[in-house]
Amino acid sequence: MYRICVIPGDGIGPEVMEAALTVLKAMDLDMEFYPALAGNACFQKLGTTIPSQTVDLALQTDATLFGAITSVPGQRSAILTLRKELDLYANLRPVKSYPGIEALYPDLDFLIVRENTEGLYAGQEEYTPDGAQALRVVTRKASRRICEFAFRQAQNKGFKRVTAVHKANVLMKTDGIFREAFYQVAEEYPELEAEDLYVDAAAMFLVKNPQRFQVLVTTNLFGDILSDEGAGLVGGLGMVPSANIGDKNALFEPVHGSAPDIAGQGVANPTAMLLSVVMMLRHLKEEDEASKLEKALLMTLKEGRVLTPDLGGDASTLKMAQEVQGHLESW
Ligand code: NAI
Ligand code: MG
Repeated sequence: MYRICVIPGDGIGPEVMEAALTVLKAMDLDMEFYPALAGNACFQKLGTTIPSQTVDLALQTDATLFGAITSVPGQRSAILTLRKELDLYANLRPVKSYPGIEALYPDLDFLIVRENTEGLYAGQEEYTPDGAQALRVVTRKASRRICEFAFRQAQNKGFKRVTAVHKANVLMKTDGIFREAFYQVAEEYPELEAEDLYVDAAAMFLVKNPQRFQVLVTTNLFGDILSDEGAGLVGGLGMVPSANIGDKNALFEPVHGSAPDIAGQGVANPTAMLLSVVMMLRHLKEEDEASKLEKALLMTLKEGRVLTPDLGGDASTLKMAQEVQGHLESW
């Protein structure tokens, strides 16, 4: 039996989470769900964005499903706290184009591996008399660890090339260390091609020639930005899932945020959340169920009869999830 911590969060978070749970509960899985609070609504209720019970539950369960939260300046970020407390050092963001969904390029399939614990997200930002400053932390240990993860992912998923993305021409020390760690790890994988790009050029290639990419590995902020850019290539933020992986814990969440512009209307695209569930099932070694759900979702996208407005349809989040659920029985 699997124990899953469920954190719906704010805005469209609870809407896409309802879709995910509807589908999961219809599957042949022995799973128990443990709801937990985090985010802005939680802050309004309890005076904290992330109660210690939520962190404990995430630590104790087999995996965590996370919807999205609204971040408010001055409040501690619940998702950053979870990534840190659970030491979820690798953030995997697969960008794929799917049949039936309008993408800028067909047949895109690349993986962004984002370092998840340091960089400009180290949380060391301070006011000074003249302005403010943020510390960008890059350690050899974390750089090696994320690069090893990226090469292993490439090997396991049959990719041939890994691209490090950095800005070592300006951030010579921090990204110098990152690039050095990357090429050290690359030596252990002679069968894989290793290259590096400056982040500005990588951003351009992502628009002009994204087919060239297979696995990208990069520091925290660059990974954040490039993955939203990737989402823009394949139909929008409703399409890209993510896995936050550590040695002991894992958390799965869509790349998107709480989308206040569409929240409350029941029209959020559940695809990114459902694909995050697929990633969770694979992580739990439930390959058969993962692939069943993936096929049911792809069938729904390809048929194009029941899609949310961002994909050109007029269905609600729940209707689209129910369509996926219906297709589950085809296998
Ligand atoms: P966002 O990702 O929430 O939305 C950006 C745009 O994409 C919006 O137009 C939104 O309607 C659209 N969108 C996002 N997800 C969608 C979906 N599933 N279906 C259809 N359309 C979708 O980013 P934004 O607006 O910059 O941030 C809103 C809030 O979310 C902020 O408070 C931000 O800090 C927070 N945020 C939280 C994240 C998390 O919980 N991990 C990640 C990113 C942002
Ligand atoms: Mg982001």
